[in-house]
Amino acid sequence: MTARIIGTGSALPNRVITNDDLAKIVDTSDEWISSRTGIRSRHISDAEETAAVLAARAGQKAIENSGIQKDEVEMILVATCSAEDYFPNLGCQVQNMLGMEHTVGMDLNAACSGFLFSLNTAFAYIKAGIYKTILVIGTETLSKIVNWKDRSTCVLFGDGAGACVIRAEETGVLDFVQHSDGSMGHVLTAKASSTETPVQPETGADPIYMDGQAVFKFAVKKVPECIEEILERNHLDKEEVSCFILHQANKRIIQSVAKRLKLSEEKFPVNLEGHGNTSAASIPLLLDDLNREGRLHKGDKLILSGFGAGLTWGATLLEW
Ligand SMILES: CC(C)(COP(=O)(O)OP(=O)(O)OC[C@H]1O[C@@H](n2cnc3c(N)ncnc32)[C@H](O)[C@@H]1OP(=O)(O)O)[C@@H](O)C(=O)NCCC(=O)NCCS
Repeated sequence: MTARIIGTGSALPNRVITNDDLAKIVDTSDEWISSRTGIRSRHISDAEETAAVLAARAGQKAIENSGIQKDEVEMILVATCSAEDYFPNLGCQVQNMLGMEHTVGMDLNAACSGFLFSLNTAFAYIKAGIYKTILVIGTETLSKIVNWKDRSTCVLFGDGAGACVIRAEETGVLDFVQHSDGSMGHVLTAKASSTETPVQPETGADPIYMDGQAVFKFAVKKVPECIEEILERNHLDKEEVSCFILHQANKRIIQSVAKRLKLSEEKFPVNLEGHGNTSAASIPLLLDDLNREGRLHKGDKLILSGFGAGLTWGATLLEW
């Protein structure tokens, strides 16, 4: 028995901010942002579009897409690193918004690897026979903690949510690998209000700090390594994988991973042009796009790979 993704959904804030819009608030340009990252625009939430609201919208769509009744869901597991509240957790907020009082709700924070680690956790619960049906959501409103005066980070991120329903079935998730390196945690941080860094008066939050080049080097090394690790232990040739669904941080990272694996870029779908880096939401947002466009076929072997703050990274092999 394993666990299969049986439905996907996503939700994006209404407001779209282009690179040209950003050039009006920081010293940047469309040329700089798009050539270095592939990003052209991103969705930015308003006060009402909280991480929980986006999560609930995406979750609702995933349940509809799966064809199950919401009463069949036993757990809501939400990946996030930018929730507006320390508590209650977003799993409980989504439970309340969607009227799913019989479920258990909780959150998981592994930054941009959060959705992948949550999917793996849901798979483990199902494989252990504890639950049969779990709603897994990745949701972020990083725009609310980003420092809008720091051009090196504010141009990179966007808001949104993606979700999937995963259910006990004979085929589906086949294996996963997960890694962390806490000793490198300092290269990508967002400190909670503390004495270490001044709180931003506008938002009450501390800015994100990122050593962009260190993160870039980490991603282009560790992502191919963990993909090779999962291929090897499943005796699978990389050519047998139909599609590699990577965390959408930067187009150059994705191109570099394809090159290192000696694979065609066509196997690495990208949707970050219109989303920016949506952290834990990026993989389920892309999965939902591909699913609704009919680009995933039953029996396809897919590898999902996430990487981000922590540092954290990993890969999940599944059959669609
Ligand atoms: C962030 C990133 C695009 C920066 O690209 P880079 O080529 O490394 O750029 P650098 O940081 O070396 O900066 C180069 C110059 O551009 C400037 N710059 C930074 N942001 C800029 C912006 N938005 N617009 C214009 N100039 C900018 C810098 O100030 C620097 O100027 P200087 O040479 O006068 O000092 C790149 O490092 C990257 O993609 N890293 C990975 C980030 C990521 O994906 N993080 C999330 C992982 S989950």
